[in-house]
Amino acid sequence: MRTQVVIIGSGPSGLLLGQLLTKAGIDNIILDRVDKEYILGRVRAGVLEQGTVDLVEQAGAAARLREKALIHEGFSIAFDGRDHRIDLANLTDGKHVTIYGQTEMTRDLIQAREATGALTLYDAHDVTPHDFAGDKPHVTYVKDSIAGRIDCEIIAGCDGFHGVSRKNVPVEAIRTFERVYPFGWLGLLADVPPVSHELVYANHERGFALCSMRSTTRSRYYVQVSADEQVEAWSDERFWDELRRRLPLHHAQAVVTGPSFEKSIAPLRSFVAEPLRFGRLFLVGDAAHIVPPTGAKGLNLAASDVHYLFEGLREFFAEHSTAGVDAYSRRALARVWKAVRFSWWMTTMLHRFPDSTDFERRIQEAELDYLTHSRAAAAALAENYVGLPY
Ligand code: FAD
Ligand code: DHB
Repeated sequence: MRTQVVIIGSGPSGLLLGQLLTKAGIDNIILDRVDKEYILGRVRAGVLEQGTVDLVEQAGAAARLREKALIHEGFSIAFDGRDHRIDLANLTDGKHVTIYGQTEMTRDLIQAREATGALTLYDAHDVTPHDFAGDKPHVTYVKDSIAGRIDCEIIAGCDGFHGVSRKNVPVEAIRTFERVYPFGWLGLLADVPPVSHELVYANHERGFALCSMRSTTRSRYYVQVSADEQVEAWSDERFWDELRRRLPLHHAQAVVTGPSFEKSIAPLRSFVAEPLRFGRLFLVGDAAHIVPPTGAKGLNLAASDVHYLFEGLREFFAEHSTAGVDAYSRRALARVWKAVRFSWWMTTMLHRFPDSTDFERRIQEAELDYLTHSRAAAAALAENYVGLPY
C-alpha cells in the first residue's frame, strides 16, 4: 500500500490530524494496535481549551460537542474548609473552558473519519516505522497474521507514551526530561449529578481531590492515592467516604453517591522528549510528552501539536515548502514546556507530598493564600488554564 501520511495511533491526536489532513485532500492511513471498542472504552480527560474545540470544529467533528458540551467560566480551589472561585471569564477578558469527555470527542472524530471513507487499520500488531532518516520512509505491521507494508512520505507518531514511534528513534538522537510524582489519581465515573455546577480542586491534609463532570447527570471524581495503590482495594463506598472527607462541608454534604461504572488509577509524571522531529518521523501528543493531569493539559497539548504539524504538512504537500515542518519541533515544544511548567506548579500546589517538610507545607499555604487574594496571581492561573495562544 501507499499513502502520503501514515499515522500511528488512533487516539485524539492521530484522529484529529487524520481528519484535518483528509479535509485538506492529503491521503492518510491510521494504524492502531487495539480495536475501536477498546479505544472508545478509555476514560480520560474532560476539559477542553478553546483552541482544541476550534480544531475539532475545523476537523468537521464538532456537531455533537456544540450540542452537548458545557461551558465553564470558572472553577473553585478549596482549602481550609472553604471555596475560592477562580473567575476565568473575568480574569481573561471573557474566555472559558469546555467540558466534554475525551471519549466523546474520540467517538465524534472516528465517526467523522468513517464518513470520509479514510482507512483505519485496527488491531495492527508489530507496527514499526522504517527509513525515516531518508525521504522514502515506510511502516510495517501485522494484521490477522498477515504482514503488511505502507510506503509513505511522512510518518506521524501519535501512539501515546508507550507507543513504538519514540522507541524507534536512535537513543543518541533524542533527549528526555522526566519527573515522576510519588502518588497517583484514583478516578471514578458515575451517573450522579455533580456536587457543584463548576469543577472543585481541593487541597486537603488527607490528599488532593477533584470534583469534575461529563454532563449535568454524570460526575467524574478523583482522589490522590499513593503510587503503589491497587484499584481493587477501593470499593465504591470507600471512594465516596474518602472524597467527602477531603471536601469542604457544604460540598461533602452535596455529594450524591451511586454505583461507579469506571474506576482506575493513573500514575502522575512529567515527561518531555526533544526534539519532536527525526527526518520524516514526527512525534505528536503523549508520544512526545506527558503532564500530570492536574492542569487538564494532556489532551489540549496533543491538540496544539496537531495544529502546528498540520500547518507544516499542508505547506509541505500543497506548496512544496518545508518551512512549517522544519519549525514544528521548536514551535510545539515552546508551548509544551509552558504547559509542563503549569501542570507541575498546579500539582505541587494542590497535592500532599509524602516527604514534604514543614517548610514546604508553609510555602504551599502561602502560595494558595497569595493565589486567592491577588488578582495578578489568579490571572496568571486563569490565563494558563484556559490555554495559552497557539
Ligand atoms: P493516546 O490517547 O494515548 O492515543 C495513542 C493511541 O496509540 C492509542 O489508541 C493506542 O492504542 C495507540 N498505540 C499505542 N501503541 C501503539 C502501537 N505500538 N502501535 C499502534 N498503535 C499504538 N489528560 C487530561 O488532560 N486529563 C485527565 O484526566 C487525563 N487522564 C488520563 C488518564 C490516563 C490513564 C491516561 C493514560 C491519560 C490521561 N490524560 C488526561 C492524558 C490525555 O488523555 C492524553 O494526553 C491524550 O489521550 C493524548 O492523546 P494522544 O492521542 O496523544 O495519545
Ligand atoms: C478532569 C481531569 C483533569 O485532569 C482536570 O484537571 C479536570 C478535569 C476530568 O477528567 O474531568
